[in-house]
Order: sequence, then structure tokens, then C-alpha cells
Amino acid sequence: MAQSMPADFNYPSKYEEVLGSKMHYVESGEGDPILFLHGQPTWSYLWRNVMPELEGQGRLIALDLIGYGLSDKPDIAYEMTDHVKYIDQFIEQMGLTNITLVIHDWGSFFGFHYAMRNAKNVRGIAFMEAVLFPIPSYDAFDDQAREFFQALRSSQETAENMMVDQNLFIEGVLPMMTVRNLSEDEHNAYRQPWTDPASRKILCKFPQNLCIGGEPPAIDAMQQAYMKWLQETDIPKLALYAEPGLLMPEQMATWCGENLPNCQVTKIGKGLHYVQEDCPQEIGKATSAWLKTI
Ligand code: BEZ
Repeated sequence: MAQSMPADFNYPSKYEEVLGSKMHYVESGEGDPILFLHGQPTWSYLWRNVMPELEGQGRLIALDLIGYGLSDKPDIAYEMTDHVKYIDQFIEQMGLTNITLVIHDWGSFFGFHYAMRNAKNVRGIAFMEAVLFPIPSYDAFDDQAREFFQALRSSQETAENMMVDQNLFIEGVLPMMTVRNLSEDEHNAYRQPWTDPASRKILCKFPQNLCIGGEPPAIDAMQQAYMKWLQETDIPKLALYAEPGLLMPEQMATWCGENLPNCQVTKIGKGLHYVQEDCPQEIGKATSAWLKTI
């Protein structure tokens, strides 16, 4: 069944055929592209209240990762390298040059990895609740998060029980990691891409690939490589952080300001992980102001 756009997402739906599947995106405006990349388990809908603050600043494009949102769910492994290929190909086909990346969660992993490999094509990087350094060990989590990630990575059967049968990322993590209560309509907008339980198998992949204690090694290597590059490149950066945050608390944002060249650090307000749901205007305004300086 064709998926529809939620009533509060005021951008036209567009599709680009990429590697034989349709990738969904929304687009508005003209000029140098500002590319928004979401993470788990969200989609371009996440940016609906951020994008209006950036109108007039360029060609705004919010992409749905392959398998996510209104993009197709082809029968692929959904390895991180698969996402890299689809994003690279989307950028190439859309002719995007001099890109400003606005990135969150796993979208940041792909955005940093893209920027490292295509530095000449990147004008700036604004990031929030980003995947920066690998997590050193499970000790870095609180008890609840530790149990969650350990269970998810204990066996594929357990992971599928959590994601497919219990729909835990949509029903548990998303509302728990947002400070305000999502309205039923908003929550439904996040549920919509995953109404077929079998499709939710895809949701196992990102948390299984979150690098913890050096595992998985291939992801560790990718993160270490872009973290090294981020400490060398002069490309303008904007680290947006919320309090208390989850992946990027104040201490990590401060580290970015002190160790990443040309990195402005801006606090956006109260938030956990899904900061676009708690501080969208603040994210948009801060990004807009920073863009005018770069
Ligand atoms: C993950 O998919 O790995 C993830 C998503 C949200 C918060 C933390 C981890």
C-alpha cells in the first residue's frame, strides 16, 4: 500500500530511483544543498519543524535512508556499507555539490563518513546527538540501556523479538528518548513505515552495529577514521547539544569545540536523543545563523 505524508509534514514527497529502489525525500528551495540525514528509527519527518527555519538558505533536501520512512525496503542486508552506497549514489544522481550536511544519530555516521571521503564537496557539517567516538564498553551505559543493547546483540532471535514482535524502538526508545510527549498523530507518523511487523527486522541492524568495546571491528575502523579526519579538517562544523542529551552530552560537545578545528558549539535546550522533537526551532535557528557565517 502506498504510504502517505502526515498532515503536519508540509513538504512535497519526491522519489529518486537509486540502485533499483525508490528513495524518498522532501525538497524545498534553491541554491547550494542542505542535506538532512536522519537515524534510527526515524525518517525525514523528523526534520519537519527544523526545515522551515532554514527556508531561503539553499536547496533543502531531507532524505529517507533506504528501508526507512517512505523509501523502499529492498531485500538487502542493510549493512552500513549498503547505506553508504545508497547515499553516495543518491548524492551523485541528484547532482549535489557544495553540500551542508545536517545530521543526527546514524545519519551522522553516514554524513561524517561521506564528508571524509568527499571533503571537496562539503561546505559544512551541523551535527547533533551524533555517533562520534565508539563507545568504550557497556559500562558507559546506565543499567536499562546496558540490558537493552546486550539483549539486542545476544542473538538474532532475541533482537527480532525486541524489534519485530515488541516494536521496542518505535514504542519504547522513541518516546523515552524525547522529553515532551509526542502526540498520537506524531507517534503514528513514526509508526507508519513499520506497520508490517516483518519489515521491522531492518531495525535490528543499527543497534547491532553501534560500536561498543571495539565491536564490530569494521564499524570501529570507520568511526576511528572519521574522528581522526574531523580533528584535522577545517570544514566548518556546528555541534548542537541538548541537556542532558544521550550520545552527545555537554562534555562531548565541549570536547568537539576544543578539538575539532572550526567547530562552533551551541546549546539548543532540553533534550535527550530525539532533539528535533524537543528543540526544532532552536536547531533550525542556530543552523541558519551559523550558515550565514561560513
Ligand atoms: C542505535 O540505533 O544504535 C541507537 C539509536 C538511538 C540511540 C542510541 C543508539
